[in-house]
Amino acid sequence: MPNAETRYTVYPIPPVPGQHHIVQYKDLRLQAIQTDRHHFTSSYEREASLTYEQWKARLQSREKTTIVAAASFQSSERLSWQHKWVGMVTVIGPKILKKFGFKPPRSVTGCGVCYCFVGVWVDPSHRGKGLGKEMILSGLDWIRADDVSDSGVEKRTLLLQVTQGNHPAIGLYSAMGFRLLEAEDGLEENLWMSMELGVKPV
Ligand SMILES: CC(C)(COP(=O)(O)OP(=O)(O)OC[C@H]1O[C@@H](n2cnc3c(N)ncnc32)[C@H](O)[C@@H]1OP(=O)(O)O)[C@@H](O)C(=O)NCCC(=O)NCCS
Repeated sequence: MPNAETRYTVYPIPPVPGQHHIVQYKDLRLQAIQTDRHHFTSSYEREASLTYEQWKARLQSREKTTIVAAASFQSSERLSWQHKWVGMVTVIGPKILKKFGFKPPRSVTGCGVCYCFVGVWVDPSHRGKGLGKEMILSGLDWIRADDVSDSGVEKRTLLLQVTQGNHPAIGLYSAMGFRLLEAEDGLEENLWMSMELGVKPV
């Protein structure tokens, strides 16, 4: 549990991850889909069976990034500082989306280059402390810095899906500037939210 001395840092996992990054990422992701299974499309059972190489492949890319929030706190004996990852956000870039044949929702037209936020999660003991917000801001920085000059477009559209009724998540994304898109047939369990990001030409 966090206390008054708990300190937080938010940073991206490097695109060439170390073994300790991969192990912590796997533990955190499995904790997320087990704790909040109704907010994720993937299942704990499926991901628990992934190999070390598959977890590594998820992180080892310059076409996407995973940002984590780490909590640092002193052990009860106050002898040493402990560090634990307590939140994560993944941003998937346009090249990967294209590779998987991603199509933006119909209401998004002329979106330029698309990015998707996925796997947004904060450990319940550390919610309400601004970590979701800090991780999204770090994701926005990554998108701004992403070099898509070969595509010839500057406009970037950020997309994500959220379960209907997930008020904390919809509250977070709305506070960050995302807007809810009109449901395509009114029956979807997941709603799309989007935000446009202007990038100054360099
Ligand atoms: C959604 C989630 C990531 C928010 O993380 P968090 O670190 O608690 O969020 P923050 O503390 O950064 O809150 C930022 C803003 O989000 C909104 N928000 C956060 N929690 C909220 C809640 N329970 N109800 C309504 N709005 C909320 C507020 O606008 C808040 O700003 P404020 O504190 O200035 O009012 C977290 O609740 C979570 O992991 N939920 C379970 C998994 C999930 O639903 N993921 C999203 C899948 S699309």
